[in-house]
Amino acid sequence: MDIDKVCVVGAGNMGHQIALAASIAGYRVACTDTGAEILQKAAAFADSYLPQRVAKGKMTAAAAQRARENVTFTGDLAMAAGDADLVIEAVTENLALKRDLFARLDRLCPARTILATNSSYIVSSKIADATARPGQVCNLHFFNPALVMKVVEVVKGPHVAPETVEAVTAVVRRMGKTPVLLNKEIYGFLVNRLLAAQKKEALYLRDLGVASPEDIDTAVTGALGYPMGPFRLMDLTGIDLTCHVAMERYRETGDPAEKPSPVVVEKYVKKEWGRKTGKGFYDYGGA
Ligand code: 3HC
Repeated sequence: MDIDKVCVVGAGNMGHQIALAASIAGYRVACTDTGAEILQKAAAFADSYLPQRVAKGKMTAAAAQRARENVTFTGDLAMAAGDADLVIEAVTENLALKRDLFARLDRLCPARTILATNSSYIVSSKIADATARPGQVCNLHFFNPALVMKVVEVVKGPHVAPETVEAVTAVVRRMGKTPVLLNKEIYGFLVNRLLAAQKKEALYLRDLGVASPEDIDTAVTGALGYPMGPFRLMDLTGIDLTCHVAMERYRETGDPAEKPSPVVVEKYVKKEWGRKTGKGFYDYGGA
């Protein structure tokens, strides 16, 4: 199936960059959100990011102009999704919200449309039955910052049609990224499972007072060669996300070991969510 128009639902941390990455790749893109301020911020990001790429010599002025013309930011879900070939959902990590959204998208979109979720952890079989097209519902998991990170996880749940995998894999490649295919569904997929193990240990060491977040990050970057330590990474991906995901997992499993660390809860309550609010484990001088 040929994908021409992409709709991204959710213009937050991930959504606005996925939308821009798709428009740079030549897709027509509509990025939609219920928050007017978030949409404004997303459009302003596109307006400043593309000229910066031109100034850095990473993109021609014509390509930047095309990319900007290719993407619209709108609060109207029906308009954004109504003629899309592929919808990528990037809303808050909440199963009930996602199921409700997918049921609405199923009613709004043409029969051909593929509905993908960028969920960090939730497998699409938990969402697919909210639609009448389970074969066209899959996970397409981008990494933060989505304009930079080169890998996207594609998860082939038991309900997913081979044509769906083929179509989304082609989109990932056209975006200049490498698809990593998971042949089975598993909570957290590959990357977040690996990261979660590291993050849990890092928080444990910090909570025990063994070392500061700064020194743990330095150890991980300097001795393990990661581009970023776990605390800086939580600030980048959002401490709110870390907290939501842990709470959701705790609710689901009932296992107290899945509860978010007290420092994560404390930062969540104080709205110290990382870069997006101007402070997390590190200070970014305000939002
Ligand atoms: N948005 C867009 N582009 C960005 C960016 C951002 N937030 N931050 C950096 N960049 C771009 C820069 O423009 C630059 O581009 P160029 O080389 O083409 O000019 C390039 O990235 C390198 O930037 P910098 O030199 O400023 O900084 P670094 O070399 O330190 O790179 C980084 C920054 C790419 C964020 C790097 O530190 C990194 O890869 N960190 C790890 C990120 C990671 O692990 N991501 C996965 C998170 S887990 C996840 O996403 C799961 C999900 O479910 C939440």
